[in-house]
Amino acid sequence: MSILRLEHVYKSFGKLDVIKDLSFSVSEHAVFGFIGPNGAGKTTTMKMILGFLKPDAGEIYVCNEKVIYGNTKTNRYIGYLPDVPEFYGYMRPWEYLQLCGEISGLSSAKIKDKTDELLHIVGLDGVNRKIRGFSRGMKQRLGIAQALLNDPILLICDEPTSALDPIGRKEVLDVLSVVRDKTTVVFSTHILSDVERICDSIGVLYQGKVVMQGKLSELKNTYRQESVLIEVEDKSQVSLLEKEIGKLNAVSQIDVFENSLKVTLNQMDLINNAVLELVIKHNINLKKYEVLEPTLENLFMELVQ
Ligand SMILES: Nc1ncnc2c1ncn2[C@@H]1O[C@H](COP(=O)(O)OP(=O)(O)O)[C@@H](O)[C@H]1O
Ligand SMILES: [Mg+2]
Repeated sequence: MSILRLEHVYKSFGKLDVIKDLSFSVSEHAVFGFIGPNGAGKTTTMKMILGFLKPDAGEIYVCNEKVIYGNTKTNRYIGYLPDVPEFYGYMRPWEYLQLCGEISGLSSAKIKDKTDELLHIVGLDGVNRKIRGFSRGMKQRLGIAQALLNDPILLICDEPTSALDPIGRKEVLDVLSVVRDKTTVVFSTHILSDVERICDSIGVLYQGKVVMQGKLSELKNTYRQESVLIEVEDKSQVSLLEKEIGKLNAVSQIDVFENSLKVTLNQMDLINNAVLELVIKHNINLKKYEVLEPTLENLFMELVQ
């Protein structure tokens, strides 16, 4: 089932057309990476999903219910962590969650249970300091705990890792991948390595539309460039290898570097053995033989160029 669905959504600010015919969907229990460069319209899209901004056209559905601008009922399904979360600095983490629980109308017993459980999940159990002294990463993690208080079906986080150092980023990503068992996660980012680390599906927002969407593994297969990198010990053997590999039918391109060759192929299965046979025949000392996997960065650059 799709937990979130956008259909032909448009949004302009004055003359600036930010979102132009945006459609995508997110299925249950996915960790969906909503990727786009700065200014692409990620925050704008999230605010429309939450009913804080009104689309100029198109429709948005959360759990198959239509999002209505203003006070949308669909928000009872959603936990939201804004890009710059605000906290009361004089509170301690459990006090803050308690306040949020009270505002949401949870019972005291439920607040106690949820507070313990969530502080544990985000790694802040036992932290009794005031929020004022928290690092940015700790604040993001507390924000995720707050967004999970109401057991949302959909957790939306707006660039939760962007302002963090590598350790802070890893901690936040770990939390997001743990909570996927409880909820569907949509998070926006411009950091492609974060997406590769935890997302199973992605949507790439570029010039107002989603230009690439789907399961990350399937996308990598579709866009796979069949190539291998061959590195040799003795650089005088590079030109010999280039000449011999060039005679093979299934080779479409050879790039030569100092000690290595990048061979691009039409058909992977046929070529590996043929190349390795050449290596043995000519008594070449291999340093490395690597089948090159496409990275998300390759795919992204290919798309936007
Ligand atoms: N309330 C607004 N009024 C005018 N322009 C806006 C407003 N909100 C966002 N924008 C513009 O819309 C574009 C997309 O912004 P945003 O959704 O914040 O991008 P992202 O979150 O992907 O970085 C930017 O050019 C931004 O300046
Ligand atoms: Mg933003």
